[in-house]
Amino acid sequence: MDDLFKKLISHAKEYGFIFPSSEIYDGLSAVYDYGQNGVELKNNIKKYWWDSMVLLHENIVGIDSAIFMHPEIWKASGHVGAFNDPLIDNKDSKKRYRADVLIEDYIEKIESKIRKEVTKAAKRFGDSFDEKQFRETNPRVLSNQKKIDEVRARYVKAAENDDLTEIKQIIIDCEIADPVSGSRNWTDVRQFNLMFETKLGSVSDEAASIYLRPETAQGIFVNFLNVQKSGRMRIPFGIAQIGKAFRNEIVARQFIFRMREFEQMEMQYFVKPGEELKWFETWKEKRMKWHKSLGVADNKLRFHDHDKLAHYANAATDIEFEFPIGFKEVEGIHSRTDFDLSQHQEFSGKKLQFYDPESKENYTPFVIETSIGLDRMFLLIMSNAYKEEKVPNAEGKLEERVVLNLPPVLAPVKLAVLPLVRKDGLPEKAREIMDHLKVEFNCQYEEKDSIGRRYRRQDAIGTPYCITVDHQTIRDNSVTIRYRDDMKQDRIPVAKIREIISDKVSFRTALSRLV
Ligand code: GAP
Repeated sequence: MDDLFKKLISHAKEYGFIFPSSEIYDGLSAVYDYGQNGVELKNNIKKYWWDSMVLLHENIVGIDSAIFMHPEIWKASGHVGAFNDPLIDNKDSKKRYRADVLIEDYIEKIESKIRKEVTKAAKRFGDSFDEKQFRETNPRVLSNQKKIDEVRARYVKAAENDDLTEIKQIIIDCEIADPVSGSRNWTDVRQFNLMFETKLGSVSDEAASIYLRPETAQGIFVNFLNVQKSGRMRIPFGIAQIGKAFRNEIVARQFIFRMREFEQMEMQYFVKPGEELKWFETWKEKRMKWHKSLGVADNKLRFHDHDKLAHYANAATDIEFEFPIGFKEVEGIHSRTDFDLSQHQEFSGKKLQFYDPESKENYTPFVIETSIGLDRMFLLIMSNAYKEEKVPNAEGKLEERVVLNLPPVLAPVKLAVLPLVRKDGLPEKAREIMDHLKVEFNCQYEEKDSIGRRYRRQDAIGTPYCITVDHQTIRDNSVTIRYRDDMKQDRIPVAKIREIISDKVSFRTALSRLV
């Protein structure tokens, strides 16, 4: 695992963001708990997503459907029959992997070689560098690109034909080794259903098998008519939902990137058949803008079109972020045609159509889905924010500080109020200031340790502003405000604190950038 990734994991634990689940019982694989700072950050991400959907679009409304649903739903959606991952075991290390992930990682390694060649050449040629021309003519880049294209084409064909023997053959031909042990002694590839099954009802005879939902989307589809009729919605319109999803993941070794219990933020946008690809482009653009609005650099985000389209999709792309473990999917945007509504129509026997008052016809709407993992978004925000810097301390000596440059709107704590000493009425004054502000922002009061150490602790949890209350405060009602990112300090009247901070940390300001 990348060194930075390891540091991020221990930082997240040390500062109350994420704890391994059931830790005192040695943990539970791929399940995590959010701590006191983690839950605040997570709630802020949720709010930013929810408001960007539901507040900013008058034709998008939200729901909160149950996790348990009728078992027929998962037959209709295809999850019972086909929600499988191809798994492969290494006979020597006894480790289990997703065969498709091994192949993807192999491709990513070659892609990273190409990126290195390009970066090197860009440095060498300076301003005159033409990346397109370089990629089209450099022999090493061309030969690596050829390898990628060949493996990809083989994999897509094998996946489409459900040809597990060929998938294993690709792993053998590419000489892919177990990333842990280096062994190439592989079993055959098998399919593995990812849904968790449980029983409903207390009497086992009557108990029916049901599933923990593997995605929140189906709760939206089965409520399509309820929302459309009760909300008198007209096509196009969207339904948004945030909620837990469960998958019995085979490969679950990447912290909160791949969990067995996680949260999704999904929005299904119902459109007129034939207009879906136009809406697909619109949502791609809107969603990328949303990510960039959180201060993520352009070169850390990219679209990755699906090599293999699901049989019901006519377009699909992922938004990928460059995590410390490489470029990986954060969000999927899918044009799902009328597959889900038609399937539920067939399995339930209930019509799920829209009557268009203009054309005076009934039709089954097509759907554009935007589906983002909340935990992955959390990891993106943490990875993007984590910085180790050398900065001067009070004596002017350089020392290391770890800072989370979180977007202020998402920071768990917006303002720390710090009395310089624990006497002379300073704690009382600090509490008075805090009581005035805490109804509006998440504030934290801290009086232990030197002011420098307190600043460092606030930097480590990403608090954008610290207020220091000192003896001058008692005399003239002014405080020192210290800014997290550049560590500059200003003397300001107490009455100005709210004015300086509120605009910077408000959802109102952040959301208005999306309008
Ligand atoms: N309704 C469509 C759907 O569920 P998906 O690509 O399987 O599509 C959507 O999942 C998003 O959910 C992914 O982009 C990812 O961010 C998140 N996700 C999926 N599986 C996950 C897991 N095991 N742990 C954490 N997040 C996951």
